[in-house]
Amino acid sequence: MAADVGRLSAVRAGGLTRGYHGRAVLDGIDLDIAPGEFVALLGRSGSGKTTLLRALAGLDAGVAGSGALRCPEPSRVAVVFQDSRLLPWARVLDNVILGLDGPRARELGRAALAEVGLADRERAWPSELSGGEQQRVALARSLVREPRLLLADEPFGALDALTRIRMHALLRQLCRRHRPAVLLVTHDVDEAVLLADRVLVLDAGSIVVDRRIDLGQPRAHGDPAFLAHREKLLDALGVDGS
Ligand SMILES: Nc1ncnc2c1ncn2[C@@H]1O[C@H](COP(=O)(O)OP(=O)(O)OP(=O)(O)O)[C@@H](O)[C@H]1O
Ligand SMILES: [Mg+2]
Repeated sequence: MAADVGRLSAVRAGGLTRGYHGRAVLDGIDLDIAPGEFVALLGRSGSGKTTLLRALAGLDAGVAGSGALRCPEPSRVAVVFQDSRLLPWARVLDNVILGLDGPRARELGRAALAEVGLADRERAWPSELSGGEQQRVALARSLVREPRLLLADEPFGALDALTRIRMHALLRQLCRRHRPAVLLVTHDVDEAVLLADRVLVLDAGSIVVDRRIDLGQPRAHGDPAFLAHREKLLDALGVDGS
């Protein structure tokens, strides 16, 4: 079974259900993400995006599902959150290789830091880094395991606009190189259309939009096709795009 899922999907969930205090937050979600596919997840605040991401990460023991969920190799799932969650008492390189065994761990960690442009900061403490740099360390920490599935919950949500743009370019580049499947939770419709192969909208416990973004990379905000996707998604979110 696990091997079958591995060939066909990076992650697959069937009838995923989660409620709190008798209220359904996820109400029978079916989701299939192909290897290497980049999926963005939009939805109003409180619609259950983090709940879904935690379920897919295997972090929520209270989730249920008939066909249930599984990704083939839980050890190759990486999660990135809005805050970097670095250990303050460990230097940058030690944060990156945390939990990684083997004689090559430091070498792999250094390579990952170089990929995110922080080769010269391996001995810094997290508190000495800017918010954007901390998120880059968090990305390096996830990439060092060569994940099959990268789950990211608003990883750029706390960053300023300019740093976000840089992070988008970096994430695109890293995904091109490592080809993980990605589920990116975001509030930002432009970010979703800019980066994703497919955009989902979660509402009232269900995926109400599953939209393929058939545009090449890099994408331009001014492109009429970009604007058309943007408008449709804003519409689905109940926001007036004009
Ligand atoms: N541990 C919990 N106990 C009770 N209710 C919870 C718990 N975790 C989440 N919820 C509820 O589930 C719903 C979905 O929460 P979730 O954090 O998944 O939303 P979200 O879409 O990620 O929102 P945001 O965009 O604000 O991050 C919310 O109504 C929230 O109050
Ligand atoms: Mg959330």
